[in-house]
Amino acid sequence: MSVEATAPGKAILFGEHSVVYRGPAIVLAIDKRAKIIAEKRSDKRIHFDCLDMGFEGYFEGDVYVPIRGEAWRGRRLQGMRVAAWKTLEHLGQETGLSLTARSDIPVAAGLGSSAAICVATVAAVGELLGGNLSKKETCDLAYEGEKVVHGTPSGVDNNISTYGGVLRYERGESIERLELGEGLPFVIGNSRRKRSTRRLVARVKALREREPKLVDGLIDAMVGVAESGLEALKERDLRRLGDLMNINHGLLASLGVSIARLDLMVHASRGAGAYGAKLTGAGGGGCMIALLNPSKVEDIRKAIWRTRGEPHVVNISNQGVETRRIK
Ligand code: MEV
Repeated sequence: MSVEATAPGKAILFGEHSVVYRGPAIVLAIDKRAKIIAEKRSDKRIHFDCLDMGFEGYFEGDVYVPIRGEAWRGRRLQGMRVAAWKTLEHLGQETGLSLTARSDIPVAAGLGSSAAICVATVAAVGELLGGNLSKKETCDLAYEGEKVVHGTPSGVDNNISTYGGVLRYERGESIERLELGEGLPFVIGNSRRKRSTRRLVARVKALREREPKLVDGLIDAMVGVAESGLEALKERDLRRLGDLMNINHGLLASLGVSIARLDLMVHASRGAGAYGAKLTGAGGGGCMIALLNPSKVEDIRKAIWRTRGEPHVVNISNQGVETRRIK
């Protein structure tokens, strides 16, 4: 028997970076998903087939043994490995596993690819072993994998990937799932510059240590923008949402996490008629997100192409993690 689990990527509308310190992030699950297929093995290995990303291998203890692709690729598997291992430990089971990963979420682009992989891994292994894991258990175990990838992440990525839809997420608080009815029109622009969330979070932390008053002022402003953004979202006031996204981009740029290519895509989208546009995720590369009137989709796609970005029209996905037995 094998089990397939899929989990969505995400786009943060408000609150990236500030959520690490305080206040909410408002985050959307998007209709791009990671898929894990899990099967038991007769040996004790955890074997990974990530051939879409060009590699395959297994771990012997902590050591990665490549079958195809270079040995350094093993680093990319640490989150998935820990997610699988913590799930086995949680269920008190010892077995070898074959895990096949496929994903249409761009990697290292701020769209929650690593969290979606961790969440889908936990769900697939849990279902395979009859663990009957709750969503909360799935989310918490996936967070263990996320910690290996990102250091001390806020938890926003594994939560949205588990629950789907639109969430107000605040560290240590209960999450609020927002019922928004009809999808909102968004275009994402990928700068195609990969970056590390861990490094960007560390860069903001270092700036805060050097300039505590100023950076705390920026974080407070971002918290205010996120709370106002939540109101605008509930009222479906797209014009106000757009203004708040623009303000949020300025604040993130002040923290030093934007780059020229993101700024170009943001300004090109606004120039082509978006209500608002901002970087999304940790910044430093990765993606921006624009909110628009559906009649403007083509104009904004073209505007992003012209800056050499890669546009993706995305919809909110109400489906969080899902599993099914496939034979
Ligand atoms: C990453 O998707 C969002 C950040 O706020 C980091 C985090 O919340 O852990 C930059």
